[in-house]
Amino acid sequence: MINVPKGTKDMLPLESHKWQKVEAAAKKITALYNVKQIRTPVFEHAELFLRSIGDSTDIVNKEMYIFEDKGGRKMALRPEGTAGVVRSVLENNLCETLPQKLFYIESVYRYEQPQAGRYREHHQFGAEFFGSELPCFEVELLCMARDFLREIGFNDLRLRINTIGCDKCRADFNAALRSFLADVNDKICGDCKRRAGVNPLRTLDCKVPSCQEVYKSAPKISDYLCDDCKAHHKEVLQGLDEAGIAYFEDKNLVRGLDYYTRTVFEFCDGDLAVLGGGRYDNLCEQLGGKHIPCVGFGCGIERLIAAAESRGINFETAAPKVFVAAQCDACRPTCEKIVRSLRDIGVSAECDLMRRSLKAQFKHADRNGFEYVLTVGETELQTGKYNVKNMKSGEVTAVDMDSISLLKDL
Ligand code: HAM
Repeated sequence: MINVPKGTKDMLPLESHKWQKVEAAAKKITALYNVKQIRTPVFEHAELFLRSIGDSTDIVNKEMYIFEDKGGRKMALRPEGTAGVVRSVLENNLCETLPQKLFYIESVYRYEQPQAGRYREHHQFGAEFFGSELPCFEVELLCMARDFLREIGFNDLRLRINTIGCDKCRADFNAALRSFLADVNDKICGDCKRRAGVNPLRTLDCKVPSCQEVYKSAPKISDYLCDDCKAHHKEVLQGLDEAGIAYFEDKNLVRGLDYYTRTVFEFCDGDLAVLGGGRYDNLCEQLGGKHIPCVGFGCGIERLIAAAESRGINFETAAPKVFVAAQCDACRPTCEKIVRSLRDIGVSAECDLMRRSLKAQFKHADRNGFEYVLTVGETELQTGKYNVKNMKSGEVTAVDMDSISLLKDL
């Protein structure tokens, strides 16, 4: 037998309602914020990710699914959603009128060591807003993220926020960080030794606990911010206060992708980020477009569902309504007719498709959580009146074809 690839999961029928609830919440909240959906291909030219996420990041260095297609092109399965959306926005001139606010729900591929909350295929609900360098852009995005999380039922996920400044303030910070890293060189992992040379900021994002311990005393970007970045950060925090979003400033938060400027944030469940993002003002230019300041986030749906379940958040959906059971084979065409009439008026209904006994049909209805069972027998065929049993209370009422629409309001 062939099994599902390591680090991937099937979404099974018994779980699908959870995904549907997440997707419905994403669609409802994005509509409230006038955010439109975009879909981009699962694979792109690998270079898109090298140029955006950065070739010294773990995602690009170790985790990308890269392959050569039959035409000899170097392609990659998307390891995140932002780069593809930016590519599409530039390619399709979607930034002629700004702001442009987009969302997506898509699969993402990273060759990571599978463990709880870390998969090789995961799914993200993401949002990318194009066009404003004002702090209210972050606030608008974070309000939407908060409303989405609330819609699912969360009210306790912690928002960690930081600023990593702009290129100007990062030059001085990088120099200070390099000199710190040289001092602690014998205490950090091999990857961090390499990162210290090419992209010192990346060291702060290392997942090795002993490195994280060392970095507690590393220089803080907050001590190197230019006046504009300081003022921007202050206004973002003020906007969050005004919107009633609780946050916690984490001066070590840098995130694992190179395109961020200024604001970075994560909503966390314990140590795991459920939703993360930030501002990326230079990415459009880096990918060959004009200067368009942007903010965005990605929310891992698997992590979101796991965090919701650990809090006992209810994912239950409406049960199917009416099962139409046949007492004899001659009753089956009438059952099918009743099912069609019910579906026509918007009532979920099903009848037996397996030629099973009446007892087995009731068992099926019970197992599938049907609220009512309408039975058709020989007497019912003659009288045109059908008994409808409430499966919870056991109460029985009678309907005929004229009054069948009453079932809609039961
Ligand atoms: P990211 O933090 O790499 O950011 O991923 C976003 C979210 O995806 C994470 O917070 C996490 O919930 C989920 N996630 C990431 N990797 C995995 C994995 N291996 N298994 C399960 N879930 C995972 C981005 O991808 C950026 N594109 C976010 C962004 C959008 N920034 C600006 N715009």
